[in-house]
Amino acid sequence: MVDLKYIGHSAFEFKTGDKSILVDPLVSVNPKYDYKAANITDIFITHAHSDHVGQAQEIAKEKKATINAVVEIANKLADKKVKTRPVNLGSWLNYDWGRAIFLPAYHSSSFEDGTYGGIATSILFDIEGVRIFHAGDTCLTPDFKAYKEIYRPNIALLPIGGTYTMDVEHAVVAAEWLGAKTVIPMHYNTFPEIQADLNKFLQLMQVNNTKCCILNPEEIK
Ligand code: NI
Ligand code: MN
Repeated sequence: MVDLKYIGHSAFEFKTGDKSILVDPLVSVNPKYDYKAANITDIFITHAHSDHVGQAQEIAKEKKATINAVVEIANKLADKKVKTRPVNLGSWLNYDWGRAIFLPAYHSSSFEDGTYGGIATSILFDIEGVRIFHAGDTCLTPDFKAYKEIYRPNIALLPIGGTYTMDVEHAVVAAEWLGAKTVIPMHYNTFPEIQADLNKFLQLMQVNNTKCCILNPEEIK
């Protein structure tokens, strides 16, 4: 069984067996989260913005984990002590815990120093038969309709904070188009520009008949 933990912002830990995968590891957002306690083998980054790269480099060093990201990001973060797997859009990537595919996100991607970060991505994971779609930062796109048909995601992690990504109303449509039975909102309330009305989101999702899980990073164990 895959165990999904919301660290905060867009950061998640997926635990499968004795291994853990981190996505968009801005772990600094949650002082209660202790990455040192987890056996992290792989780190995935959706795009180069600092709220998604987070502490990837230091975690990769400490845990001897591999950073998986598009070429521009992987190459920028690689050094003697950081293993990387530079990839790009379009194919299943195999791991001993399952597989993943990078898909396009409609967003920009550059590092804080202005270095080009390649294309922004969403990432779809297939872990023990559970398909988890991490949207990264993106607007609503009809691509989601195709993902429903091709990938049949079970769980969708969707940004709802607006300004830089989809907002609540668009995320509700995204959930419907993706056809995921469970939706977990992310990328909201971390800073003033991305305040979201969670009650409105829950209400709209109810109409949609989709299970919506609001995960509270404060409850992390
Ligand atoms: Ni971004
Ligand atoms: Mn962001």
